[in-house]
Amino acid sequence: MTGSSAPTQSPARLVVVLSGRGRNLAALIEAIDTGRLDARIVLVVSNRLDARGLRIARLAGLPCAAIDSSAFSVREDFDRALAARIEGAAPDWVLLAGYMRILSSAFVQRFADRLINIHPSLLPRHPGLHTHARALEAGDARHGATVHFVIPELDAGPPIRQASIAVRPDDTASELAERLMVRVEQRLYAKAVGDLVSGRVQLREGVVWRDGRIQEHCPNEDHDPIASS
Ligand code: GAR
Repeated sequence: MTGSSAPTQSPARLVVVLSGRGRNLAALIEAIDTGRLDARIVLVVSNRLDARGLRIARLAGLPCAAIDSSAFSVREDFDRALAARIEGAAPDWVLLAGYMRILSSAFVQRFADRLINIHPSLLPRHPGLHTHARALEAGDARHGATVHFVIPELDAGPPIRQASIAVRPDDTASELAERLMVRVEQRLYAKAVGDLVSGRVQLREGVVWRDGRIQEHCPNEDHDPIASS
C-alpha cells in the first residue's frame, strides 16, 4: 500500500460488493436517502445470483450486477471479471458489505486505499468466520464490529471505526449477531464511509489519519444496551 486516499467528489461514488442478505447495504441506502451520508451508490455487485442484497438494490432502483463465482474455477479469473465490472462504474470507494469470498491480492492492490470492509468483530480479535460464536466461546465481555481498509492479509487492514455492545450471559451466537447488526453494524458503516467521503479520514502510506493527525486509537463507540437504557 503506497498511495493515499483523498477527499472525494460530492456526492462520492460508491460500489457495494456483497454475497448475501444486504442489511448493511440497506442501512447505507437509508443513510444516503436521509441525508446522513453524502454519497451515491453507482453499482451493487454480487458473486451470487440469488443474493437477497440484489433484490434490495433493485427495489431501491440501483444499478446491479451479478457475476456467478461458482462458474469460475480460478479465483483470479473471477476477481478480474469482478474488478472490471467495478472499474466500469468509476467508484471513489469500493465497499465490501457481507462479501464472503477471500480476495486475491491482485484485486486488493487494484483498489488499494479505496477498498473498505465491515467485519463483525472487534479486530484484531476474531478475524475470519463465526465471529459471534468465537466471541462467546472466548468469554468476551464485549463484542463489536470494525470498518477497515482492506489489505491482502485477511481482516488485518488499518481500522477506521469500531463500535461495541456488551455480551449478555445468556446470549446465543445468533442473538448476539442480530443485536450487533441492529445496534452497531447498521450505523457504523455509514459513519465510517462519511469519514472517508468528507476527507476527515485519509490513508497515507498505510497509516490512517483523522482530522489531520495520525489516528493512534480507532474510535470505538459504546452501544451498550444495558448501560444506555
Ligand atoms: C455482516 O454481519 C458483515 O459484517 C459480515 O457479514 C454480514 C453480512 O450481512 N461480513 C463478514 O463476515 C465479512 N468477513 P448483510 O449481508 O446482511 O449486510
